[in-house]
Amino acid sequence: MGLGALGALAAAGPLSALPAPVAPAPALPAYDPAHPDEYWRAVRAQYPLRDDPLYLNTGGLGPTPQRVLDRVYGTMTEMQEHSEPEHERRIKPARRALASFLGARPDEVCFTRNTTEGNSIVAAGLALNPGDEVIFETHAHPGGSYPWFNQVQRHGVVVKLFEPDVTSAEANVARIAALITPRTKVIQVSHIVCTTGLVLPVRAIADLAHQHGAWFHVDGAQAVGMIPVDVGALGCDSYAFSGHKWLGGPHETGGFFIRRDRLEQVAPVEIGSYSGDLPFLPGVIKLEDSAVRHEYGTRNLGLIAGLAEAIRFQLELGRDRIAAWSRGLATGLAAGIEDIPGLTVLSPRDPVLRSAMVTFSLRHVTAGRLTRYLGKRHRLRTRPVTEQGLQAVRVSTHVFNSRADCDRVIAALRAAAHDL
Ligand SMILES: Cc1ncc(COP(=O)(O)O)c(C=O)c1O
Repeated sequence: MGLGALGALAAAGPLSALPAPVAPAPALPAYDPAHPDEYWRAVRAQYPLRDDPLYLNTGGLGPTPQRVLDRVYGTMTEMQEHSEPEHERRIKPARRALASFLGARPDEVCFTRNTTEGNSIVAAGLALNPGDEVIFETHAHPGGSYPWFNQVQRHGVVVKLFEPDVTSAEANVARIAALITPRTKVIQVSHIVCTTGLVLPVRAIADLAHQHGAWFHVDGAQAVGMIPVDVGALGCDSYAFSGHKWLGGPHETGGFFIRRDRLEQVAPVEIGSYSGDLPFLPGVIKLEDSAVRHEYGTRNLGLIAGLAEAIRFQLELGRDRIAAWSRGLATGLAAGIEDIPGLTVLSPRDPVLRSAMVTFSLRHVTAGRLTRYLGKRHRLRTRPVTEQGLQAVRVSTHVFNSRADCDRVIAALRAAAHDL
């Protein structure tokens, strides 16, 4: 998108209420489909991230462009110059930008500190009784599973797990369907599974959940910022994500969506100023008639402004273009390593199920050993995958990565097959 188009977008859209863009890092060139590598090199130059080690772990923690950091620092500095809370004035435009980015209404979203917090709002807030059942995948991250196991220990909720299938969307829907009973109250899935990068068929699972009257929650930690996410089209009741992964927002940022007509079904567990009104003590709290009821107390508005800047940056790059580039890199990487002797790619082959993460294992080599080897010998920052007994390594490819980066990974894995 050129600057003119961005200006039009900013004038018309929810970004118009945000502060003007900070002084840009090196300007982005217009996108030329004939020379994509040049464009993404210019994107790479926006990041303070060092070249060594080569960073391939956006699924763990996403690097932030300089202009996001400038926005955080600038906002925090401005707010120290007058030391006024300015909560409403600064948070509302950012919330509108977040809502628009997710395809939600402004009263359906609130800021959180991370995905775990959004998952916890749902797990702790739904009215569940002992014996009520919750279904999610065996590969759920602790940020998705612990909030539910906490309910198992505290309230006798029953967790039922399905093994995600990397070969077929329908198989995943069928595996969930096979676990449903009259006691099923909640189905939760990771939009993109953190171990293998499998994209789950969220819309079909939403329909299944609602046919059975179950709440449908999505853990979007690995999705928002990697692929376009429209919560309305996904059909979920609630959705949680982190700002500090694929979106490139500041650390300790995130968002939570709850459908307008489902608001009352999740009791807020943590509340305070900004959650509602309690005019006289003692009294009855009148909660905000929106997701904002979950966004209690004083917040670091610098971080929230930084998250809004990260959203602006993504819109400037184009969300479809981001998804195509990062997924394309992962696809090329997977193709380049599949013939390596002893190496198995655990990520999906089907393009519909595949994301910008590639996970692989090397025969007889533990996840820790392979990760250390790639780090020390080849200066590659990857992530070991040991969930569910896997001994694998995950590589994430994002907007600041290049085809040359993927070639380095391929060469390193060829060497690993020989050296280890
Ligand atoms: C699927 C999934 N859910 C939750 C989390 C936890 O994220 P956070 O620590 O930002 O809450 C992660 C982190 O990798 C994840 O992959």
